[in-house]
Amino acid sequence: MGEIENLPYKEKRYPYHNAYLDYWKKSISNIEEFWDLKARDLVWYKTWDNVLDSSNPPFYRWFVGAQTNINLNTLDRWQNTLIFNKVAYYWEGEDGVSRVITYRDLFKEVNKFSKALIDLGVKENDTVTIYLPMIPELPISMLSVTRIGAIHSVVFSGFSAEALSTRIVDAKSKVLITADSYPRNGKPIELKKNVESAIKLAKDQGVEVEKVIVVKRSGLPIPFIEGRDYWYHELVNKYSDSIYVKPVARKSDDVLFILYTSGTTGKPKGIMHSVGGYMTYVYHAFKWNWDIRPEDVHWTFADVGWITGHTYIVYGPLMHGATEVMYEGAPVYPAPDRAWSIVEKYKVTILYTSPTTLRLLRQYGDEFVNKHDLSTLRILGTVGEPINPDVWEWYFNVVGKGKCPIVDTWWMTETSASMIAPSPHLGLVPLKPGSATYPLPGIEPDVLDDNGNQTPPGVKGYLVIKKPWPGMPLGIWGDPERFVKTYFGKYQGIFYAGDYAVKDEEGYFWLLGRADEVLKVAGHRIGTIEMEDALIKHPSVAEAAVIGMPDPVKGEVPIAAVVLKSGVNPSNELKKELIEVVRNTIGPIATPQAIIFVRKLPKTRSGKIMRRVLKAILTNGIVGDTSTLEDPTSVDELKRAWDEFKLSMK
Ligand code: WTA
Repeated sequence: MGEIENLPYKEKRYPYHNAYLDYWKKSISNIEEFWDLKARDLVWYKTWDNVLDSSNPPFYRWFVGAQTNINLNTLDRWQNTLIFNKVAYYWEGEDGVSRVITYRDLFKEVNKFSKALIDLGVKENDTVTIYLPMIPELPISMLSVTRIGAIHSVVFSGFSAEALSTRIVDAKSKVLITADSYPRNGKPIELKKNVESAIKLAKDQGVEVEKVIVVKRSGLPIPFIEGRDYWYHELVNKYSDSIYVKPVARKSDDVLFILYTSGTTGKPKGIMHSVGGYMTYVYHAFKWNWDIRPEDVHWTFADVGWITGHTYIVYGPLMHGATEVMYEGAPVYPAPDRAWSIVEKYKVTILYTSPTTLRLLRQYGDEFVNKHDLSTLRILGTVGEPINPDVWEWYFNVVGKGKCPIVDTWWMTETSASMIAPSPHLGLVPLKPGSATYPLPGIEPDVLDDNGNQTPPGVKGYLVIKKPWPGMPLGIWGDPERFVKTYFGKYQGIFYAGDYAVKDEEGYFWLLGRADEVLKVAGHRIGTIEMEDALIKHPSVAEAAVIGMPDPVKGEVPIAAVVLKSGVNPSNELKKELIEVVRNTIGPIATPQAIIFVRKLPKTRSGKIMRRVLKAILTNGIVGDTSTLEDPTSVDELKRAWDEFKLSMK
């Protein structure tokens, strides 16, 4: 705690702290009253009979009896207002091409594509998988799917064919929206090729993709199957600009979308978010985070394939009639100042990105930042991992020139939008570098020990959310039991986030990373068990254990300890093959940093791999209590293999 105590941020610009505390206390004293009021900021076809139905916990249902469609609040609402002529997206391709899309353009395009989807036979509650790069057709597809009452499942375009097929099969998606290929670091990524493999794999598992809609992004040749594949531009060009599709009235507790995320088993979880609850919570959080103003240019530098993009590139900004920047490419391509040139070009006022991106940009030196006029910036946000106080200071001083508050937002796929974050509005919360500060109004987090008791200030425990909130998930697609067990199994009736946290004397929350078998590699959430399952598919592998190793840029990187089957000799060739297996099963984001061959793994007597011991050895920590180990010599074996590995790297 010493380190934390030494960090109070000495700024005298925050006079309204008590006002925030009073407002927050009031908000959680009667959450139904609070959310009832918040939801009235939005447009509904029919309002609710009941704010919250708690009759079947933890399956809480929000705004019961209400009907709406998120398109009413992102698009239709802005017709006949000044916002209709405003820029919704400044899109910038990695190769330097750009597009400016107004709310009016977006409305037209979404109506056309909605009609095209209906004509292709997509019905309410069908699941549509979207596997697109960061191009405007991605938000257009999401809005069109939800407009007609279908459910989207967006799969990050960096995932492999196999990862895509798993998600298609789980969601039983018969329609897929994709693109030909797109540039990444100047090289084409052949998305459609992945799609072909994924469709074959899905078919083997009994799910046939019947229709594939292809957006032409690069124009490079692709496999195209007549009768199954459709060009996006040919579909939408069939309709006139005045075509109108009425947004389908959805029940508040219908599924808006599914988004797969990693957990503590090999199978990703399809997190289901609700129509009315997600909409209300995201609207509220976006407003709280950014104190958004009509003239703002907001840039979330993240991918729509993750929850950050769903909420802070698509639904959040559009519900506020805000202007969003959408950048397709890699952060430092073709030069280390790409991000800063985008801030300057579009006069970005609010920049939101991950600590990994900041660490990467910082390592090239301040001159790349200083080359550009960043004077339009007024707020800087961060998300996805704990931010190191020195990176926080760099962001504050070098990027923000000491005049922009840092909004560190803690949240997760399951929560819909940020849960713990300061509001820059009127300077409600004094900042401390490295702390996400305080909860949003309506949210009651806490830090508990293993027995469910609140930990004293400064003592590490598990982060929980004590009361339901509108952005909570409806459940896990097809697996209600897993939902109950994962989030409400550790503490009765309380949402368990899976993060370590500590509260300081002043009630500030400090997030300390995942408490389970989940890694955050460059901000991407990856399950160690997913990687282990991939490794043991290789015929030479008997057992595998993956842990996260601290990394100065990516936060952590995966390292795999592998036991080979008897008779198989370790070799560099085999290492390469194993790395390929992981890349092909999950995607390049999960590439192991190192593979170490060992003869045995540290295990408990019941056969559970002790990742804690493994991690301690590999990060040169203290191994701690090994009395529960089945075979204590496994520790020496690991040390030996690790030393050998380090020597081989010299
Ligand atoms: C981590 C990303 C510290 C955390 C929106 C959480 C953070 C996981 C922060 C969810 C933050 C997110 N400080 N840690 N500001 N924001 N995390 O589902 O471990 O991809 O559990 O959602 O990211 O990752 P996910």
